[in-house]
Amino acid sequence: MTTVIKNGTIVTHDLTYKADIRIDGGKILEIGPNLSGDTELDATGAYVMPGGIDPHTHLEMPFMGTYSSDDFESGTRAALSGGTTMVIDFALPSPGQGLLDALKMWDNKSGRAHCDYSYHMAVTWWSQQVFDEMPDVVARGITSFKHFLAYKGALMVNDDELFASFQRLRELGAIAMVHAENGDVVAELSARLLAQGNTGPEAHAYSRPTQVEGEATNRAIMIADMAGVPLYVVHTSCEESHEAIRRARQAGKRVWGEPLIQHLTLDESEYFNPDWDHAARRVMSPPFRNKTHQDSLWNGLASGSLSVVATDHCAFSTEQKRYGLGDFTKIPNGTGGLEDRMPMLWTYGVRTGRLTMNEFVAVTSTNVAKIFGMYPRKGAVAVGADADLVVWDPEKSKTITASAQASNIDYNVFEGHEVTGLPRYVLSRGRVMVNDGSFDGQEGHGRFVARDANGPVSQALSAWKDLTAPRPVVRAGIPATGV
Ligand code: URP
Ligand code: ZN
Ligand code: ZN
Ligand code: ZN
Repeated sequence: MTTVIKNGTIVTHDLTYKADIRIDGGKILEIGPNLSGDTELDATGAYVMPGGIDPHTHLEMPFMGTYSSDDFESGTRAALSGGTTMVIDFALPSPGQGLLDALKMWDNKSGRAHCDYSYHMAVTWWSQQVFDEMPDVVARGITSFKHFLAYKGALMVNDDELFASFQRLRELGAIAMVHAENGDVVAELSARLLAQGNTGPEAHAYSRPTQVEGEATNRAIMIADMAGVPLYVVHTSCEESHEAIRRARQAGKRVWGEPLIQHLTLDESEYFNPDWDHAARRVMSPPFRNKTHQDSLWNGLASGSLSVVATDHCAFSTEQKRYGLGDFTKIPNGTGGLEDRMPMLWTYGVRTGRLTMNEFVAVTSTNVAKIFGMYPRKGAVAVGADADLVVWDPEKSKTITASAQASNIDYNVFEGHEVTGLPRYVLSRGRVMVNDGSFDGQEGHGRFVARDANGPVSQALSAWKDLTAPRPVVRAGIPATGV
């Protein structure tokens, strides 16, 4: 049974051209004019693009005394509904728990996924056991490791642990990732704010100013440079952090930055809403910023100093958010966005002229696949690639509402936003999962995607670090080794 996508315009990260696509066995078999097959999908007036890849989700994650409310079933249903055909979730060992043990927990949850998925591994504590288990994690195709510089007393690691972990990642050809906020300063500011009677959700923003993010980003970049490992900075939200990344890249360092669709399109005024629920629902780390920072992020995407747009989808219901009534530090941190990332970025990015269509494909899909070691199997419209595709109707509109969303929670941070640009068809390995707004997925269809270590960037950085490593000066009459 072959499927053909007919009469569309293919848009990739570097090309825009008219052609049909023939799919069989879940893969792209042929690209060319006038193809035919058993099933034909009409893409007249539409763009055919690689399905979105969201490299940052937290599905059914134990966090701040509860679990995030979207699991691999509802989360991947939301993803597909919005044109995203793969997610990378974070396997999160609790401090003291082994990495392989945490992986088993994530394997138990992910069996319900409608679309393909992979994991990053989080390093939430440091020990000989963590060090010893890292190669096994990489051997399973989990080749990126996240570290939290925030969440003191919970997930945070210190600089010596970060350096030890980063050095291990270099040996393994893996990618280092970091949540960059200075956790010590956030903890002190939070305590001070509470003592002064600042207990509401706006104090969450006061407790995490842009400076704490900028400092932590600079620190992580320096430590990654000393270790010789490529670094991916998650949820880059402000100019201070972007500036650090931009400067590092300009200096030849291998660093990527990931703004979220929330930070690009929502601002800090949300926290000053008189409705406590409204403000608390938008509590996430880092918090939303002002227009200066938003412009910086948009410009970074256009210029290439920022590489990816993600969601950090970590959905908590209003009831869960209310754990923090009277104490903002107890509001579970996180917002949703999986279903809305692609239409929001198209509407506020492509339709405004801030991004080209090709840049849209790069930051929502292709760059993710390249950075995280799965290109061109994912993130490409190419013969032999997985047929994870979205047929995108640039004129289709809707107003975002919680009542129509796939996510399990009772609100949507983009409620009321009108988006233009929506999927007509979404295919996961050739299977049509979304057909003109109606979901026809299949629980358990999603498969784990093992990713490569030692990608081109890791190899190049390693070669350069070897070439420029400190060497002893050989002096006549002085033995090279100690006497
Ligand atoms: O507030 C956030 N971002 N929650 C999810 C966990 C994280 O820090 O990525
Ligand atoms: Zn984070
Ligand atoms: Zn996150
Ligand atoms: Zn299937």
